[in-house]
Amino acid sequence: MLTKLLARLIAPICMLLAQPHLAAAAEEPLRIGLIVPLTGGQASTGKQLANAVKLYMSENGDTVAGRKIEVIVKDDGAVPENTKRIAQELIVNDKVGIIAGFGITPAALAAAPLATQARIPEIVMLAGTSIITERSPYIVRTSFTLAQSSVIIGDWAARNGIRKVATLTTDYAPGNDALQFFKARFLAGGGEIVDEVRVPLVNPDFAPFLQRIKDAKPDALYVFVPGGQGGNFMKQFSERGLDKAGIRIIGPGDVMDDDLLNNMGDAALGTVTAHMYSAAHNSPKNKAFVAAYGKMFGSRPGFVAVGGYDGIHLIYQALKKTDGNSDGDMLVEAMKGMKWESPRGPISIDPDTRDIVQNIYIRKVEKVNGELYNVEFATFEAVKDPGKTSK
Ligand code: PHB
Repeated sequence: MLTKLLARLIAPICMLLAQPHLAAAAEEPLRIGLIVPLTGGQASTGKQLANAVKLYMSENGDTVAGRKIEVIVKDDGAVPENTKRIAQELIVNDKVGIIAGFGITPAALAAAPLATQARIPEIVMLAGTSIITERSPYIVRTSFTLAQSSVIIGDWAARNGIRKVATLTTDYAPGNDALQFFKARFLAGGGEIVDEVRVPLVNPDFAPFLQRIKDAKPDALYVFVPGGQGGNFMKQFSERGLDKAGIRIIGPGDVMDDDLLNNMGDAALGTVTAHMYSAAHNSPKNKAFVAAYGKMFGSRPGFVAVGGYDGIHLIYQALKKTDGNSDGDMLVEAMKGMKWESPRGPISIDPDTRDIVQNIYIRKVEKVNGELYNVEFATFEAVKDPGKTSK
């Protein structure tokens, strides 16, 4: 009697275990938590990241090495406490195997201990402070570092007749990197800094500082504001007449994001920046990317979109290499040293630092067929992050 009862209870369990799809973890979807700012001052950058991932998946399908890819998009509003809470929920409740996105440095840093603890990759698609990749062995970056472009524009300015520079940088980690690395090269090249202004990240009002800078009469204003803020900055720059006063803008390319550039007006003409991507980059790969992005979203992709597009590509390629195995250590190992052609040009992941190695281009804003573009005129090949402390 008792044995019969037991047999009846056990039978359905045995049947369940016998079903192959329940046993084979490799066939389960791989969930990616894409944490980006979709509200607040950085919203346009989160939109670019989400768009780029969507575009890539529409071009490459949603199955890799037998694994279905599911992207869960979450808005952190670029508030690091939100990032941390969301990352925790995604890892614990949604069982994501990868976290990605990260519109600002504090967000990328807030998630780092969680990636380490859960042993899952954290793919940084935008944030650009050098130290980020040192905060977890699971962080891999597909964007850039501010140091990469700031040293190049610092040398360029000193060698191209710019003697007196005022600086305006956003007062947080990437702005401090941008300032430090620019200054080191520009001062070494014989330049002089006549004023240094730092503006807050949230709701910056540039106007009072711009008046002060106008009065200081520098040859150029070195600017770092994070992607998404360039339009507002340029509006205030031209309203205060700094362009008419002959003060040119130089900097890392964030301020001239292609996403916003064409609406900045002629005050942007002649701006020289160093950066890793221009929508005008002359390659078949980029032309196809710009056309496909424009077709899908009705706008021009900027450097932020490229970081997202390459970030999801990196995940796809790593998963192919592991044959669909999403073990975090295996995926990060597979990502190390990976090389491919991005819309920005050739790129790779430095196997020692897990940071991106890429060309940095010097570009000048010009009108091409009636539209404003960052036209590249010099290339520095395969630039590693000069800002690493441990390497
Ligand atoms: C950052 O917070 O690290 C960051 C964000 C946007 C940029 C550059 C850096 O354009």
